[in-house]
Amino acid sequence: MELETVLVEVRDGVGIVTLNRPKAMNALNLQLTSELGRAIDTLEADEGVRCILLTGGEQVFAAGADIKEMKVHDFASLYALNFPYVKRDCWRAIDEARTPVVAAVAGFALGGGCEMAMACDFIIAADTAKFGQPEIGIGTMPGAGGTQRLTKAVGKAKAMEMCLTGRMMDAEEAERSGLVSRIVPAEELLESAFRTARKIAANSAPAVTMIKQAVNMAVDAHLADGLRHERHAFQSTFAFADCAEGMDAFAEKRKPVFKHR
Ligand code: HXC
Repeated sequence: MELETVLVEVRDGVGIVTLNRPKAMNALNLQLTSELGRAIDTLEADEGVRCILLTGGEQVFAAGADIKEMKVHDFASLYALNFPYVKRDCWRAIDEARTPVVAAVAGFALGGGCEMAMACDFIIAADTAKFGQPEIGIGTMPGAGGTQRLTKAVGKAKAMEMCLTGRMMDAEEAERSGLVSRIVPAEELLESAFRTARKIAANSAPAVTMIKQAVNMAVDAHLADGLRHERHAFQSTFAFADCAEGMDAFAEKRKPVFKHR
C-alpha cells in the first residue's frame, strides 16, 4: 500500500496503523482520512488480520480536522462534499469494520481526533492523553460523533461541559468517566496496546466478531432487543469449530488451538 499520511504494519495478526502527519499534529486532512480509510479497508479484507490497532504520535494522537484545509469551505461546499463522511473515508471504514479496532492514545486527541478515538471499539490511554472537543473555540461544533459518542461514554454533564467550553479531560478523568478502558505509562503504551490487540487476534475470530456486534447493540438498541440479539448470537457460536475446540480444551486441561472458523 502506497500511503504517506498513515503507516501500516502487520504483526502477529494485528494491523498496526499509525497516523503520520507529525508537523501538523496529525490534523485530519482529506488525504489522511482517505488514506486511513484505504488502510482500514485493506486490513479488514486481510484474513490474517484479526485486530486493528490505531495510534498516533507520542505528543499527539490527532489534533482534529485540518482547520487550514477546512476553512476555505462554506455550507454549500461542505454539504456537497458530505464532509466529514467523504466517499469511502476512514469514518465509514471504522464504523463498519467487523475487525475490532483498538485506539492507543498518547497526548492530544482533540476534535475529530477525539471523535476518531471514540469511533474505535475501545481506547487505551497513555498517562499523557488529553481528550477534548474544542470546536466551540473556532466557532463550530463536533461533526463526527463528538456530541453523540462522548455523551454516551461519559454522560450528559461532562459531555455538555466539554463541548460547550472546550475543556479537556486528562487520562485520569477519562478513565474515571468510562471514556478509556485503562491508562498505562506513556513509554509502555504501544507495547501494552499491542499485547491487548494480539490477545484479541489470538481468540476465535467468529466469536470475537459476534461479541463486538453484541456489545455495540448495547449502545444502540433497547435492552430487550439487545438481550434477544445476544442470546441468538451466543447460541450461534456453537456452530463454530472454535467453540467445540475451546470447550474440549477446557475439559482436557490444555490450551485451545483456534482455527478462526
Ligand atoms: C491544522 C493544525 C491543527 C489543526 C495543530 N495544527 N492543530 N493544523 N489543523 N487542527 C498545526 C499548527 O497550525 C502548527 O502548524 C502545528 O500544527 C503545531 O501546532 P501548535 O499549535 O504550534 O502546537 P501547540 O502549541 O503544542 O498546541 C497544540 C494544540 C493546538 C493544543 C493541539 O495546535 C490546537 O489547539 N490545535 C487545534 C485543535 C482544534 O481546535 N481541533 C478541532 C478542529 S475542528 P505550523 O505550520 O504553525 O507549525 C474539528 C472538527 C471535526 O476537529 C469535524 C469532523 C472531523
